[in-house]
Amino acid sequence: MVTAEQNRSWTQTGKGTRMGELLRRYWHPIAAVGELDEHPVKPVRLLGEDLVLYRGTDGGYGLLERHCPHRRADLSYGFVDDCGLRCSYHGWAFDAEGACTSAPFEDVTGNHRLRERVRQVAYPVQAMAGLLFAYLGPQPVPLLPNWELFGYEDGFCQIVIAPVACNWLQCAENDIDPVHFEWLHDNWSYVQVGRDDRAPRHLKIQIDEWEHGFAYRRIVEGSDENSPFWRQPRLHLMPNLFMPGGTHFEYRVPVDDEHTLSIVWSYEPVPADCRPFRQDDIPYWYAQLTDPATGRWITTHVINQDTVAWVGQGRISDRENEHLGRSDRGVVMFRRRLVEDMEKVARGEDPTGVVRDPERNRVVCWPDDRRGEVTKALPRDDWLARKARFGRIAGLRDPNDHFIFYAGQPEHVRKRYEAAMGL
Ligand code: FES
Ligand SMILES: [Fe+2]
Repeated sequence: MVTAEQNRSWTQTGKGTRMGELLRRYWHPIAAVGELDEHPVKPVRLLGEDLVLYRGTDGGYGLLERHCPHRRADLSYGFVDDCGLRCSYHGWAFDAEGACTSAPFEDVTGNHRLRERVRQVAYPVQAMAGLLFAYLGPQPVPLLPNWELFGYEDGFCQIVIAPVACNWLQCAENDIDPVHFEWLHDNWSYVQVGRDDRAPRHLKIQIDEWEHGFAYRRIVEGSDENSPFWRQPRLHLMPNLFMPGGTHFEYRVPVDDEHTLSIVWSYEPVPADCRPFRQDDIPYWYAQLTDPATGRWITTHVINQDTVAWVGQGRISDRENEHLGRSDRGVVMFRRRLVEDMEKVARGEDPTGVVRDPERNRVVCWPDDRRGEVTKALPRDDWLARKARFGRIAGLRDPNDHFIFYAGQPEHVRKRYEAAMGL
């Protein structure tokens, strides 16, 4: 039985809270690199902190507290010049370390001591695989994990972002919930297209622990231990990253106690006749979540369906009213691990999966060898057959919609995808 107090301690994200401190031991994606190509300054919110992200004239990134230390104006309306990010109110400027590099009237009047005293809160930012990651925790800063997925070649990559109005933990618990695939994604989809058959039932689930979190395998009716469901377990990486299959990541980024940023990083191998394929930049787009005609949630795409489950649990799921069963073993293991990790952090130790060894971080590999299979150069006919199998529920989505995970892929991304795949 979960108490209201436990639930609070698992869902608070602010500085100084137990979970907030645990979450501050990891790097979190906060934007796509492409977003700053369009405009170099962007307001962001992470772990309950209002921040401003910018790209300097030297191409480096900065992440600062959002309110100017002079008289608290909004730095997301500032602009970038050679001094860093400059506040539009009285022109004070700050570099990526938070030093005040210019305070025009104070400088003219010789009051240099003021800006030497002022320091804006600043956090490190790193770009990887088309995403910008931030670290809000204490020194020493850990390494940004270089997951093997980011290094796969000959595939089309894209980034999809969706703000979600609920706590991150219920989204992350969905990562380690094997049985929901059968219902939320299969049976509910069948019902939506008027089918009266049902997906194969889950017969067995197994959840293993590994260095970065959990791996779970499933056996459904008609499958056995040779099926990919068993051989390539779904990976839940502590604390908030999910890798179903082997070709995309789903980050559940804690914005604050009641908001999450869902970020999908997706790779899809191109057919053999389109190789070699190189992509110079990774496009990003914002998912469509509601149907403008009805105002209701869109329920046809995989993570749109997940979103209905997440937000349906309320802003913060009231776990004290749950009734967990055998299907929830992964959720229980995950919560237990979070509690252990919060205790480790309180003792000054690193929690699960923090990477500090540069040798280890050359490439952080999966606990099984799936790379060959998921990046394989398939002949066009096999590639088309696999694609058809993947988007297999006839009538559920527009057949020209190539992205099954989120609704709303814009035309310019669809065109780039089609060009990459030779469609
Ligand atoms: S409030 Fe930013 S410079 Fe005055
Ligand atoms: Fe799901």
